[in-house]
Amino acid sequence: MPPLKSRYLVTAALPYANGRAHVGHIAGCYLPADTFVRFLRLTGREAVFICGSDENGAPITFAALKEGVSPQDIVNRYHQILKTSFAGLGIDFSFYGETHAPAHDDATQKFFLKLLAGNYVQKRTVEQVYCRECQMFLPDRYIEGLCPFCGKSGARGDQCEACGRPTDATKLGEPECKVCPQQGRSGKNCVEVRASDHWFLQLNSSETAVRQYLDAHPEWRAAVKHFSYGLLDEGLRERCITRDLTWGVPVPLDGAAGKVLYVWFDAPIGYITFSQQYFAERGQPDGWRDFWQNADTGLVHFIGKDNTVFHSVMFPAMLMAHGGYRLPDTVVANEFLNLERDKISTSRQHAVWVDEYLTQFAPDSLRYYLTTIAPENHDSDFSWTGFQTRHNGELADNLGNFIQRNLAFCQKYFDGAVPAATASEAGQKLLAKIAAAKNAAAEKIGEHCYRDALDEVMMLSRAGNEFFSAETPWKTRTAEPEKCAATILTCVQTVEALSVLMAPFLPFSAAKLRATLNLPALQDGDWNAPGQIKGGHLINAPEVLFPKIDDAAITAAKERSGVRPV
Ligand code: MF3
Ligand code: ZN
Repeated sequence: MPPLKSRYLVTAALPYANGRAHVGHIAGCYLPADTFVRFLRLTGREAVFICGSDENGAPITFAALKEGVSPQDIVNRYHQILKTSFAGLGIDFSFYGETHAPAHDDATQKFFLKLLAGNYVQKRTVEQVYCRECQMFLPDRYIEGLCPFCGKSGARGDQCEACGRPTDATKLGEPECKVCPQQGRSGKNCVEVRASDHWFLQLNSSETAVRQYLDAHPEWRAAVKHFSYGLLDEGLRERCITRDLTWGVPVPLDGAAGKVLYVWFDAPIGYITFSQQYFAERGQPDGWRDFWQNADTGLVHFIGKDNTVFHSVMFPAMLMAHGGYRLPDTVVANEFLNLERDKISTSRQHAVWVDEYLTQFAPDSLRYYLTTIAPENHDSDFSWTGFQTRHNGELADNLGNFIQRNLAFCQKYFDGAVPAATASEAGQKLLAKIAAAKNAAAEKIGEHCYRDALDEVMMLSRAGNEFFSAETPWKTRTAEPEKCAATILTCVQTVEALSVLMAPFLPFSAAKLRATLNLPALQDGDWNAPGQIKGGHLINAPEVLFPKIDDAAITAAKERSGVRPV
């Protein structure tokens, strides 16, 4: 791994504004990104954290049609829910934008025109399925008919579920429109094939450049490299970047009315336009350049694995073709999170929604659990029982217990004044583990291994618990008061260190703990600041940081997430 830089732009994939955020989204992208950003700042690095709602694209148009509302209504609704969900979990973006915005349209159109002028975008006339009733061209998945390969009915224009083969929408037998039935029409005998003009990104001419780019990043996760090289080995083909829709970024050309740019063309450009807006709002209209045009700055994209091709191939190719931009240093792609060993599904309501979760549990409990099961190298499984077990057995019984037993002891027997003492040999060993844990956690975070990094924090707390138990301060208190004092001083100092170490992962609890310790809130750069707890320091009365979660709460949560009790 190359060493970390001193300044970063971190992005998290723009969520579609047609649904609520669920735990799969959080684990796969937003939580590791937020943890990384918090760590960067705590270690004195500058970090700008960019995200926003992905508000264009066909699914939003069709969700609106189905509900009988406008696309704008749909995106307004979900933009708010997404924003609130992220904030509730402490996913703390510097800027959270929206792609359905004039400034974004404008920048995306300019980007498109530059690629067109450079011949990197070329026009073709293609055949497409048109519905006379809906008066529009239909996306492939809204057409159904007989599969040209296996002959079964119900094959979609993109794929046949029966034989699994990709289909060509214009080649289905007896094609039907699937939008019409949503509007009370039959959908039969209303579709035909019509010619339509579209613009294609000449990805084929980027093959060598993209390969060189990947070659320069041997440190990326194996899955990202494997997938991307696989695409290059198959050969890149030109890719259509326009759609016959009215919702989206209009194609800025005469004769292109009713056409918009493909959502996967405009969304990644959103990373740039949101950066521009962020700096403009801070009165630094050129500030974004340091992040997008200066390779001394780090640029890291966090995404779910289904977004890989767009970030490892298509967006870099677009940036290279455009010129004037630096390329991302790292694309951190995560695998998928399942729920109770079944795929998360929004249509089947088999999901744990963030807004709903937050009505019942604390944000850090989810942050903790999702980090311990982070789908970093393979798919992983969220289970409510696992959530409860981890919370009660680790957060409460390890970390919470170590903090509570020490602070309560200090409060009760020393009136909240940390005793002055000299650390014992065993105490010094524990204190030495602080630096070791910091270094190890920092290294793991630098490698984007958040599970392992959090493990280092929990190991320090475990060592603290062992120390406290072995020292038996409840016995030495009367028999050897100096030893007792040394034990408590060392332990409270370790608790202080934990308040720093846990902050990137458990920001709410870290802040509460700092207040209980009567220490100032953490500032940027505090990761390596010397401890402030000395003999005589007054702490406040502790409150239990991680109250246990009982079975009744878990049963209720299971019902809400569409998990039947077993
Ligand atoms: N909206 C896409 C999804 O949820 C992600 C867009 S990421 C961006 O899968 F790069 F396009 F912004
Ligand atoms: Zn129709």
